[in-house]
Amino acid sequence: MSKIIIAVDGYSSCGKSTTAKGVAAHLGYAYIDTGAMYRAVTLYFHTHHITLTNPKEISKALEGIKIDFRRNPETGRNETYLNGLNVEDEIRKLYIANWVSEVSAVSEVRRAMVAQQQRMGKAKGVVMDGRDIGTVVFPEAELKVFMTADPQIRAQRRQIELLEKGEMLDLEDILKNIHKRDLIDTTRADSPLRQADDATLVDTSFMTLDEQIELLTNLADEKISSS
Ligand code: DC
Repeated sequence: MSKIIIAVDGYSSCGKSTTAKGVAAHLGYAYIDTGAMYRAVTLYFHTHHITLTNPKEISKALEGIKIDFRRNPETGRNETYLNGLNVEDEIRKLYIANWVSEVSAVSEVRRAMVAQQQRMGKAKGVVMDGRDIGTVVFPEAELKVFMTADPQIRAQRRQIELLEKGEMLDLEDILKNIHKRDLIDTTRADSPLRQADDATLVDTSFMTLDEQIELLTNLADEKISSS
């Protein structure tokens, strides 16, 4: 059976990554969280005091960044490594979430990440989640899904996620961050977040994660058997 590329794009906190991971596990495909790559770049820029106004400085900094994903044998989950260091927990913190949209709007950053993502997915058999996978990274992907949900519900989901990691945050602050990121992600000049013409729209506001995984798995199975 031939392997396909599955692009899962959409807004933050719609359940994209958990759904994409579930589908990848069902199919025995690799899962790539492209948001984690932009978060890792943001962490690097933060640590090295890289400002976003100097393209030369940004390009030079990008040359010093190596991102990869490694499976944690104890938890079975894929974790993000930045220059050999496990940054999985650090990149999920709010100070990164507050800056990542600005960093990921920089063209030099996008070019470097897109090239790496295309290398990672070229053998197919991959589920990639992000904002521009179906429009820019793999416009030829066999299956494209675009996920959305009500911002208030997304904020509540994010609050629970952060709480589980020990970060207690006000719902209003999370909602503000979500609105700010949506605005930057959808209006940036370089590859803004938008639904590809041939993507299936999935509103997860009133869906459980299991239902989301089931829906996408069915779509993937259909695609694979017809390709
Ligand atoms: O999926 P996430 O919330 O971890 O993504 C973090 C940020 O990275 C998000 O605000 C937008 C950006 N991003 C992007 O611009 N392109 C992608 N393919 C993935 C994420």
